[in-house]
Order: sequence, then C-alpha cells, then structure tokens
Amino acid sequence: MSVQLTTEGRIAIVTIDNPPVNALGQEVRAGLLDAAGQLDQMPEIAAVIVKCAGRSFVAGADIREFGKPPQPPHLPDVLLAIENARAPWIAAIHGTALGGGLELALACRFRIADPRARLGLPEVTLGLIPGAGGTVRLPRLVAAEDALEMIVTGKPVNATRAQAMGLIDALAEGDLSEFAKSFAQNLPDDPGPVLGRAPKTPGPEFEPRAEALIRRARGQNSPRAAVDALRAALSLPADQALARERAKFLALRDDPQSKALSHVFFAERQAGRLDRLKGVDAPELSDVGVVGGGTMGAGIAAACLLRGFTVTLLEQTHEAAKAARDRVEGILADSLTRGVLTPRSHAATLARFATATEARALARADLVIEAVFEDMGVKREVFARLDAACKSDAVLASNTSYLDINEIARAVADPARVVGLHFFSPAHVMKLLEIVVPDQVGDRALAMGAALAKRLGKIAVFAGVCDGFIANRIMSAYRAECERMLEAGALPWEIDAAMVEFGFPMGLFRMQDLAGLDIAWAMRKRRAAEGRQPADYVRIPDLLCEAGRLGQKTGRGWYLHQDGKALPDPEVTALIEAESARKGITRTRFSADQIMNRILTTIQAEGQAIVDEGIAARASDIDVVMINAFGFPRWSGGPMHLHDG
Ligand code: 3HC
Ligand code: NAI
Repeated sequence: MSVQLTTEGRIAIVTIDNPPVNALGQEVRAGLLDAAGQLDQMPEIAAVIVKCAGRSFVAGADIREFGKPPQPPHLPDVLLAIENARAPWIAAIHGTALGGGLELALACRFRIADPRARLGLPEVTLGLIPGAGGTVRLPRLVAAEDALEMIVTGKPVNATRAQAMGLIDALAEGDLSEFAKSFAQNLPDDPGPVLGRAPKTPGPEFEPRAEALIRRARGQNSPRAAVDALRAALSLPADQALARERAKFLALRDDPQSKALSHVFFAERQAGRLDRLKGVDAPELSDVGVVGGGTMGAGIAAACLLRGFTVTLLEQTHEAAKAARDRVEGILADSLTRGVLTPRSHAATLARFATATEARALARADLVIEAVFEDMGVKREVFARLDAACKSDAVLASNTSYLDINEIARAVADPARVVGLHFFSPAHVMKLLEIVVPDQVGDRALAMGAALAKRLGKIAVFAGVCDGFIANRIMSAYRAECERMLEAGALPWEIDAAMVEFGFPMGLFRMQDLAGLDIAWAMRKRRAAEGRQPADYVRIPDLLCEAGRLGQKTGRGWYLHQDGKALPDPEVTALIEAESARKGITRTRFSADQIMNRILTTIQAEGQAIVDEGIAARASDIDVVMINAFGFPRWSGGPMHLHDG
C-alpha cells in the first residue's frame, strides 16, 4: 500500500510511501482519495498530517504515466477532496515538494517544512504547466511576482524563502514528524481553503517580467502557456481558472515538446549508468588533485572546491601556481558576489585549497585530474610522475579533448586506474561530464568518475575512446560540414543565424570565436602531420588563424569584435570567396532550412556511427551530450530523438 492512514488521538497521519520519490501515480492518488473519504467519516479527528516516507516529500506527478491516457482518480479531484475535507490537512514537507507534490501541499490548509526542504513547480521544464491547481492556488498565497518566477522559470525555492513569501506557515524545529504533531495540536486560526481566498494583485513589474520570461524561452511553448494560465488565475473566478489550467495542461501533455523533454529527463538519468558498475560501491572521495591550472584546471579545481572537496593544484612553476591560484580565487570571488557562497563559506572553501609545484603534494589525493597542455608527450610524462607520487589506489584521470587515453594509460604501471574525465568549459558551470572508458580501466576508476559527477551535480555520460569521444567528435563532423557550406556559398553569420533560429543559444562560428580558434587549429595540424587530412579538407579556418584571427581574444576571428559586438567582417567574406574561387566552386545561396538540414543530417549520421561503434551505449546519450555540451535545444529532445520522432 503506497498510502497508509494511522491515528494518534485526535490526529490522523497519512503517509505516502512510493519510492523512490513518492510520485503521485494512480495508486497514490486513489490512496489519498480513499483516506480523505474515510477521514470525513471520523468526527473524532481534528487535524490530518500528510507526510512522506523515504528521502523526500512528493516530487510530482508520475512522469512515467505521461505517455498513457490519464487514469482516475485525477489529481485535481483528489486535491479538491483534501481542500474541502472536514478536518484541516497539514502538509509536512521534507526533501523536495515539486510539481503535483507542491500542489498537494497547496491544497492543504497549512504547510510546514524541514529547513532543508525545497519547493517548486518545475512543470515548464518538462514542457508542461502545473495541472492540478498550482497556477491558481499559488498566487493566492504568495505575491503574483513570486508566483510568476516559480511557475514560469520552474526554479524551486528553499524553505526559508518559501516562508518569507508566505508559501509555508512554519519551519520545523527538530524532528519534522514531532513538530507536525505539536503544530496539529496547537493549530492557528483556520484561514479557510486556499481557493476561497482572493489572488494577490500584480504590481507594475508583473507584465514586463512576464514578457521577458516568454522572450527568454524562445522556441519553447510551455513558459507562454504558464504565463497565460497565471494571468487567468489572477483575473478569473477560481473554478474557471482551474478549468483553463487543466485544459492547457492536458493539451501540453500531448505536445511534441513535452514528450521530448520527458525523453531528456529520463535520458539524462540513464546516460550515467553502466551495466558493469551495478553493485560496485562508490569509492571514498574527499581529496582531489588537479594538475595544470589553466582555463580547465582552474575551473575543475573551483568546481570541486565549491562542492566541498579538498583540492591541491599542481603547476610547473611558482609563477604558474600563483596565476592558477588567482584564477581559482577569481571564480570563488564571483561565487561570493552571486550569493552562491557566504563570506563564511567562502573563507572555509579557500581554506581547503592549496597549490604546489612538486608531485609529492598529491600523495594523499583519492583522485587526480590532469588538465595540462594537449600534448601526448607532456601528458605521459605527467602520468608517469603521478604514478610514482600518488597513493597506489588513487584514480588518475585525464581531461584530454582528443588524445588517445589508452596511450596515456600505458604510462602508468597499472592502467586500470586511468580514466578519462572530459569537462566542458567553463568547468564550474557546464553540466556535462564525459567519463571516457579506456580499454584497461577498472571498475573502481569508473565508479570514481561517476561518484565525482554526482557530487559535482553534473550529468555523466560514458564514452568509449575515439578521436573527440562523443561531443567533440560530433562537433568536428558538423563543423567540417559547415566549413564545406562556407566554400559552397554560405557565410558564417548566415549559418549562425540559422542555428539560432533553430534554437541554439549561439551559432557555431560565434561560439568558436568565444572559445578561441587555436585549440582546433593545433588539432588539425596534428592530424595533418599524421596524414589524416580528408580529401575535401577546407582551409578557410587555417587561413584565418594564419592571419592572426584567433577569435574574440584577438579582436578578430570569424567576426570582427568591436565594442562588445560581433560584426560580419567583409575581410572574412573576401577570404572565403577567394577560397571558393581558388577551388573552382560556383557559390550558391543557402536558405536557413537548407543550412539546418545539412547540419542535422551530419549530426545524426555521426551520432548513429558513434552508437554503432559502441562509443556511446545508446542513441539518447547523443541527445544528452548535444543538449548539455552545445546548447542543442532541449525542447526538441536532441538530434536522435528528432530523427526517430
Ligand atoms: N515521476 C517518475 N519518476 C521520477 C519522478 C517523477 N516525477 N521524479 C524522479 N523520478 C525517478 C527518476 O527517474 C529516478 O528513477 P531511476 O532511479 O529509476 O532512474 C529516481 O526517481 C530518482 O531521481 P533522480 O535520479 O533525479 O534523483 P535526485 O535525488 O537527483 O533528484 C528530484 C530527485 C529532485 C525529485 C528529481 O528527480 C526531479 O527533479 N524530478 C522531477 C520533478 C518534476 O519535474 N516534477 C513535476 C512533474 S510534472 C507534475 O507534477 C504535473 C502536475 O502539475 C500535475
Ligand atoms: P591551458 O593552456 O589554459 O592550461 C594548461 C596549464 O597546464 C597551464 O597553466 C600550464 O602551466 C600547465 N602545465 C603544463 N604542463 C604542466 C606540467 N607538466 N605540470 C603541471 N602543469 C602543467 O589549457 P586548457 O585549455 O586548460 O586545457 C587543458 C587540457 O584540457 C587540454 O588537454 C585540453 O585539450 C583540455 N580541454 C580543454 C577545453 C577548453 O575548452 N579549453 C575543454 C575540455 C578539455
């Protein structure tokens, strides 16, 4: 039974127990309705506490049911029964109260929460809007502007903020269950059902903010629908607003965007799983070493520090170590400014950080992540040194973008402890982590990678060893296709505009300018030296680099960068046209659709090859990578989902 009803004197306790996250599946809905019905027949009961077993309050409707026809009892009906119950219901919240879970709490007469609880309406992130009264009840408890933020961004709030905005009545002191019972015995005056109250009046900032949030959502439908539902809740009688909300919710459930976003939700959780790791315990991990404190090393060190690890960063010289420290401290200072750290936690975080120039400083590290220059000789030398200096069970990881990790692993006596951990720049911001699986890697090293991803709050995807793993290999393929389009008649800003219109936050060429063109240039030179240049090789990017145009950092790249703007540059047009002429290519115009067709076909073909070769375990891993590494629009479900419908 996923819902149990017990009584203690005049108090009834309804416990939802539906692991892992107490989602409101059919059985739970039926159990709650049944409990409400029974309690209405028990006049001795003065108050009802609804709480959850396990790690969390209800995390929402059961997303697994979304592909199927809705089964009665429907959540809105269950919640009306609770709201209109004879004895007042009190929601006792721990962990997360999300989506339908928060809607359940909103239907209660009172809400109390553990101080660590988080409350939110994340339905928009699944292409939906709240479907059981969330848009109608929330603005009857909190300011219209606060309701707008929660409903349209989908971001949860913590319990303290929830109390400040009027969403919860009390923060639990001590044990939540005990606190709930004492709250139930000393109930405040009954404020009546939430639906019976008037919605808060929106202030002048409501509409401009609503429009800004809709603009920010770009191609995604649900934020606009969420704003519309909230506007209805603020202006119509509650019953009409509820009916509108439900109709919109049901329509969105069948929208391809919500199917795509549910696909991504499950794909992201599956990507970090590997059959061979079933039953393997996560290794001990508290002390992290980082080798190389440049762009990536500093970002990785900061990411680890921000999540509570002790970090020692190894550099070549004292000057380089000082520069690395400045980079890391810069990121932490930024976290302080943005309120991610308090002055106290900032000081504590800095106290866990050390720099060094001797490998023996890494003797205590459980995991060492190498992020030195992209050069096989340098990396092998570093790994040999780590092999000698680190404890024998330390896991040694490389952040290489393109190099063969099998070869790096051979620099170590026991290659079982070498794994690839490929972060994306900026490493403390980007959510994706490719865990690269070399031929001889042991389970412990892989489990260490997975444990690190979890602790850093990153989405892990396992990838086999190949040139560029999953992300960079696909990027190389569609970059080459875009370069061929340049020769054939397109211009960089036309390709970028087509990508932005499709839903990418930024086009490929603009992104390259931001990252710098030199890393890929070095990689191309290496491939050329190895005789691995394709017959249809396009020289245009090399010509740009040879002209000193290395991207935004040099003021010129694919674009001319002036006053913070990226401008189309006639010099680049001339260079491209000259190259087409040299190859005897007659240039033709490309429409945005033609551009995107060619890009998508290339991504899908390369993605399929990666799956066929076993580099990725499943097609949905390609979707997860493209969305989280390159901003492929999430609401499309990713390139492989788009292809397979
Ligand atoms: N339905 C079904 N399964 C769910 C679920 C849900 N709402 N939420 C989480 N799960 C499953 C996950 O798939 C995973 O299953 P698995 O172990 O078999 O892969 C398991 O629960 C644990 O989830 P996580 O790995 O994500 O665990 P975390 O501890 O990292 O996160 C969480 C927990 C914060 C609750 C996170 O899972 C989450 O954000 N869940 C989605 C919440 C959500 O979007 N709710 C709204 C649903 S829509 C709705 O409620 C409509 C309503 O308005 C009518
Ligand atoms: P970088 O040039 O900014 O930093 C490299 C750092 O390593 C320098 O500070 C250098 O002093 C240090 N270093 C070199 N040899 C060393 C040694 N023997 N011991 C200790 N420190 C040493 O390079 P970046 O961009 O940080 O790249 C590092 C690695 O990360 C490369 O393998 C790169 O391919 C990979 N990578 C880079 C990404 C990016 O966007 N820049 C993204 C993902 C991976």
